[in-house]
Amino acid sequence: MRVMVTGGAGYIGSIVSEELVREGHEVVVYDNLQMGHLGAVVEGAPFIQADLLDGDLLRDMLKVYRVEAVIHLAADSLAEESLKDPTKYYCNNLTSGLSLLGAMKDCKVDRIVFASTAAVYGDSEKQPVEEDDPTAPTSPYGETKLAFERALRWHEAAYGTRYVCLRYFNAAGASKSFGEAHEPETHLMPIICQAAAGKRSHVAIYGDDYATRDGTCVRDYVHVLDLARAHTLALSALDDRSAIYNVGCGGDGYTVREVIEKASEVIGVDIPVEVRPRRAGDPAVLVANSEKIRRELGWRPERQDLGDMIEATWNWIEEHPSEYEKMGLWARLNKPA
Ligand code: UFG
Repeated sequence: MRVMVTGGAGYIGSIVSEELVREGHEVVVYDNLQMGHLGAVVEGAPFIQADLLDGDLLRDMLKVYRVEAVIHLAADSLAEESLKDPTKYYCNNLTSGLSLLGAMKDCKVDRIVFASTAAVYGDSEKQPVEEDDPTAPTSPYGETKLAFERALRWHEAAYGTRYVCLRYFNAAGASKSFGEAHEPETHLMPIICQAAAGKRSHVAIYGDDYATRDGTCVRDYVHVLDLARAHTLALSALDDRSAIYNVGCGGDGYTVREVIEKASEVIGVDIPVEVRPRRAGDPAVLVANSEKIRRELGWRPERQDLGDMIEATWNWIEEHPSEYEKMGLWARLNKPA
């Protein structure tokens, strides 16, 4: 299938693109590089550096590349930042998404897989959460993702656009070529690895007074390669359904302290920590019930071991000491015009 991946130069988008190529799909990457990296564009994919709000260009590209389906990951994704700057999130996550849907409708592209999030559930008391449980986002980030999910429902009713929303829990790990590189970095696992590598003095633990087994937040970490696989399965599912799926490993999840302890063990160094106040917008616990995607699409997390996810993150950071800086330069110098 010919697939456009928005946000395809980002952490998850680059690895989803790799998986699509591996499965024999033709990939076009569309990314404005505000967060993404040129060096993270999968080899051989045409790359369009542009904004989703540029509807005319988007229409041209959908037509030129005869795109049959879109995997839409381009978004801002930090709950705390979204509380300080909700306008940015409404614009980049909702308005941009609606621009994409408009262009898809005009170009008769009627299939989309959407990168949604566990943040739509908010501070749910019932854990693990199921897709039909109440949604109550605690940040504009979660709110805008939920609003786009709902827009998809109405677009399907009006125009027949098929959709699968994948509610990601916490992506972790890396592929051989691509990994997590944000500036500034805010995510727990790369921050732990940076501290272990001596690139930062300590890991700040945001709150140890939650009602959890050790007082720190619980998350459901899912290997990014398993997460990527969910996208290719979702593409096939679009033949006969629209649906919303949780994508996580389930179980008891891991507390922030448990992740740090496991990283110390796997990497073999002490990792200094400092307890700080809670971070705004963080739910205490987010763990997936992913029975639905297992049952309906046959998805299984094959790399559930937390130590393996940490090791993959660590190896990637070790092998790419300046993350994408040099790779980006390489791509700029060598990519055909
Ligand atoms: N944390 C720390 N110290 C840090 C960084 C994070 O204690 O330096 C804690 C956070 O408070 C949170 C946990 O580690 O409890 C995980 O935080 P991340 O920032 O790594 O991830 P989030 O859970 O905030 O968010 C991620 C994605 C979202 C997605 C969400 C789904 O960034 O896009 O997972 O659960 F919606």
